[in-house]
Amino acid sequence: MSSKLTVQRSRLPFVLVNMAMTADGKIATMNRMVSSFGSARDHEHLLELRATADAVMAGARTVASAPINLGPGPAKFRRLRLKRGLAAHNLRVIVSGSGLVNPRAEVFRHRFSPIIVLTTRRAAPARLRQLRAIADEVKVGGKNKIDLRAALRWLRAKWGIKRLLCEGGGELNAALFQAGLVDELHLTICPKIFGGRNAPTIADGSGFRRLAKATPLQIKSFKRIGNEMFAVFTV
Ligand SMILES: NC(=O)c1ccc[n+]([C@@H]2O[C@H](COP(=O)([O-])OP(=O)(O)OC[C@H]3O[C@@H](n4cnc5c(N)ncnc54)[C@H](OP(=O)(O)O)[C@@H]3O)[C@@H](O)[C@H]2O)c1
Repeated sequence: MSSKLTVQRSRLPFVLVNMAMTADGKIATMNRMVSSFGSARDHEHLLELRATADAVMAGARTVASAPINLGPGPAKFRRLRLKRGLAAHNLRVIVSGSGLVNPRAEVFRHRFSPIIVLTTRRAAPARLRQLRAIADEVKVGGKNKIDLRAALRWLRAKWGIKRLLCEGGGELNAALFQAGLVDELHLTICPKIFGGRNAPTIADGSGFRRLAKATPLQIKSFKRIGNEMFAVFTV
């Protein structure tokens, strides 16, 4: 990775999505209990990408479903961040339209960097109070769905986020793709088949009917390491 990281010149952050998926395109099993199935190399790749980003973002269900803290990991990655002119610890962003974020989720046990929650006017005042007690900032934007474009613009203006790494899940990714906010997709293809018509994929949401609505991608790189494929697509 060059020390010159790609950032967007616009008022939006440069957005990367990083996901591990099975050969049949699933990011978890049908009961959503198993979502960690990549190799140690894939985990290293996740930390390498985090070490390039001002902030790491995830949907409420992803944060609730696994013991993840969305942080930079071992000291070598924090040193790398400092060398690149980034803060030692990345900011963390959690997306929840309802404001129903599990306060006991692992992410809130680690206070090494601010946690920002994006939510909507669906979140009742009592819930907003709860969220404000566990997060460093709660941003309300949108009636039922978060206006992600406006939220990302705000994240750049208020928190200086120029590179934002989204780590899923499928609902949040789909909303970002649909809003045309993703710049790069990093995909680790793991040699497994999960099956399950309701198992989540890298982009779920309600989808669309016409080919013209598809997000077009270009292959930037495609590499086999061990028994996995590491692909990067630009949007
Ligand atoms: N293999 C991998 O690389 C990987 C990576 C990440 C996650 N996963 C797995 O994927 C599963 C979770 O994915 P998921 O698709 O179910 O959930 P998700 O995307 O993590 O979270 C969905 C929630 O995010 C909120 N949200 C997303 N977009 C929104 C928008 N535009 N406006 C308002 N709220 C929005 C909603 O919260 P509210 O319901 O509160 O409104 C929604 O229910 C888990 O099993 C997880 O472990 C796998």
